Amino acid sequence: MNPEAQRCVRSLIPAHAPRNPSGRAFAPSNIALCKYWGKRNEALKLPLTGSLSVSLGKLGSQVSIHLADQDSFQLNGEEVPPSHKARKRLFAYLDLFRQNAECFQVEAENTIPMGAGLASSASAFAAIAQAVDALYGWELSSEQLSILARMGSGSASRSIYEGFAEWVAGAREDGMDSYAVSIAPVWPEFRIGLLILSQAEKAVGSTEGMRRTRDSSSLFQSWPAQVERDLPAIRNAVLERDFSRLGQHAEQNALSMHATMASAWPPLIYAQPETLAVLHRVHTLRAEGLELYVTMDAGPNVKLLYLAQDREAVRSAFPEVQEVE
Ligand code: DP6
Repeated sequence: MNPEAQRCVRSLIPAHAPRNPSGRAFAPSNIALCKYWGKRNEALKLPLTGSLSVSLGKLGSQVSIHLADQDSFQLNGEEVPPSHKARKRLFAYLDLFRQNAECFQVEAENTIPMGAGLASSASAFAAIAQAVDALYGWELSSEQLSILARMGSGSASRSIYEGFAEWVAGAREDGMDSYAVSIAPVWPEFRIGLLILSQAEKAVGSTEGMRRTRDSSSLFQSWPAQVERDLPAIRNAVLERDFSRLGQHAEQNALSMHATMASAWPPLIYAQPETLAVLHRVHTLRAEGLELYVTMDAGPNVKLLYLAQDREAVRSAFPEVQEVE
């Protein structure tokens, strides 16, 4: 049990609310264009800097929670055993919400591969927070739900929204000012192309990766300054629909984050040979005039950023691309 997080949850939830037998919610996955990497408080998952993301349409998590006689967790139709780390993490999170030692039957359907740098924890915890809200009948605001989701996984704070969302870092010690807000629901021409190069579970997850980078990379000292440049530039680029500006800052931001990871000890190198081949191919295509950029998270997969007008050119260069509107 995490007493600091427990206190925050207690301060958010109403004393009296009508409890339902079950709650259900969907949340989309999200890809950060300006990354969250590094915490100022691990227990509450408070970030060192702000971040900004775009949601992934129908790719995400559908979660149902029923009150039950004992805890159980089904993922994509299969029972997850009590020893599995995803199940332990889920119930450690749900412990924050139990009112009278009640038990939960949780069913989750993920439409994205787990642990492959495609942020399945983001959509999962955002959906769980909303399903718990529906179960207990709290009717919390989006900002409050974002705070609850954040305590499951930082990037989940942004998965409360469709479209572009900014997670404001906040300054308070209790994290009550650290939540995401919607900055633009749509940009119809904006496309994300997923290049899934590996579905293997990553060796070092984000929580440990951030800790290690923060503790051992001297390059990490320059990371907040990088975010200070990229975050307002990306926010304005979204608001003004300036795709080139967005792409440049998003790609530089992602590669800067990977530079801090690579300079940690032991080093964190998430890129595989295929990842680097894609990066070089993108740079060649860009030199030939195609407005194509990349972003990458804590994994080997690459997300291409482009506009709808270039989708044929992107598809002919990368026939295996999975496009998200
Ligand atoms: C590289 O949100 O998974 O995807 O808060 O420790 O659960 P925890 O980490 P998590 O980290 C995501 C890191 C990232 C960048 C991002 O999504 O902003």
